[in-house]
Amino acid sequence: MPQAKPKPAIVIRDLESIEDLKKVETLEQEVWGIADRDVLPLTMAVATKAAGSIWVGAFDGAQLVGFVFGFLGMEEGRLMVHSHMLAVRDPYRHLDLGYKLKLAQRERALAMRIPLMTWTFDPLQSRNAHLNFSKLGVISNCYKVDFYGPETSSVLHRNSTDRLWVQWPMASRRVQQRLQGHDPRSEVMDALSRLVPLIRFNGDGKPVRTDLSAALARQRIAIEIPSDIGSIETKDPDLAKEWRHSTRWAFQEALRAGFFVAEFCRTVRGQQGPSAYVLERGPVTECVPELGSAS
Ligand SMILES: CC(C)(COP(=O)(O)OP(=O)(O)OC[C@H]1O[C@@H](n2cnc3c(N)ncnc32)[C@H](O)[C@@H]1OP(=O)(O)O)[C@@H](O)C(=O)NCCC(=O)NCCS
Repeated sequence: MPQAKPKPAIVIRDLESIEDLKKVETLEQEVWGIADRDVLPLTMAVATKAAGSIWVGAFDGAQLVGFVFGFLGMEEGRLMVHSHMLAVRDPYRHLDLGYKLKLAQRERALAMRIPLMTWTFDPLQSRNAHLNFSKLGVISNCYKVDFYGPETSSVLHRNSTDRLWVQWPMASRRVQQRLQGHDPRSEVMDALSRLVPLIRFNGDGKPVRTDLSAALARQRIAIEIPSDIGSIETKDPDLAKEWRHSTRWAFQEALRAGFFVAEFCRTVRGQQGPSAYVLERGPVTECVPELGSAS
C-alpha cells in the first residue's frame, strides 16, 4: 500500500519584516491570478502593518504558503477588524491552514480588545461558505452586488464580484461553540429536509426559482448552490452567470424581507449534489446577542 504523504510542519507567525511582506505579493498573484496593478503595493502593506493591522503568515521553512491580512475599520460606530485577504497555496489546501490562520487572526484581534471581525466572500464558493459558516460560525445580513466592480484581473472574479458581507463576533457563544467543535450539521440537515429551496439545483445542474411569497412566509429559507462553481465557470460560463443571477435575486429578496444567513451545509443530497444556505427570519441579534452591543 502506498505510504500517506507526511504533512509538512507549518509555522504560523506574524509577518514582521519587509522581506516577509514582499513574499505576500507572489502568493497573491499565484492564488488570485491577478495582474501586477491589482497586487497590494508593498508600501501599503508596510504602512498598514505599522498602523496596527494584522498580518499573519503560514510558513513551510522559509516559504510563505498562506497568509491572512486584516485592517482596522469602523462599522456602525464600532471598531472592528476587516479581513481583506486570506489565501493558502494550492498544494497546502485542506490541511486546516485557512482555519488556523483565521484562529491566529482572531487571537490577535481579541488581544487588541476588538470583538468583531468582518470580511466578504463569494457566496457561490462552497468551500469558503463551509469554512466561514460551518467551521468559524459567521453570520450575514448583507449582500453586495459587484462589490469590486463587474470584474477584475483575477481568475476568481470572472463571474462578477458579488459578495456576502459576513460578521464574526469572535467572543460570542456561537463562535466559541463552533471553535470547540460543535457541528450544527444534523440540525441544519433537519431544517433543510422540511424546506422547499427558494433556489433549487435541478437534475441538469441548473438553478430553478421556486415560489417567492411561499418562501418568505416561512421561518426559514434555503438557497442551494453548486458544490463546485469554479468548474462551471470554466466549462459553461453562461450557466455560471445563471447561478449568479438566481442566487443574487434570492439573497436580496430574503435579506430585504428580514432574513439573515445563519448556516451552510456542503452536502445536501450526496457528495455530487448541491450545497445549501439556511436563512432564518428575524434580527441577527436573536441568534447572536453580542452583535447588538457596542462593547
Ligand atoms: C479559502 C482558502 C483560504 C481555504 O484554505 P484551506 O487551508 O484549504 O482551508 P481549510 O483546510 O482550513 O478549510 C477548508 C474547508 O473547506 C472544505 N472544502 C474543500 N472543498 C470544498 C467544496 N468544494 N465545498 C465545500 N467545502 C469544501 C475542506 O474540506 C475544509 O473543510 P473540513 O476541514 O471541514 O473538511 C483557500 O482555498 C484559498 O486560498 N482560496 C482562494 C482564495 C480565497 O478564496 N480566499 C478567501 C476569500 S478572500
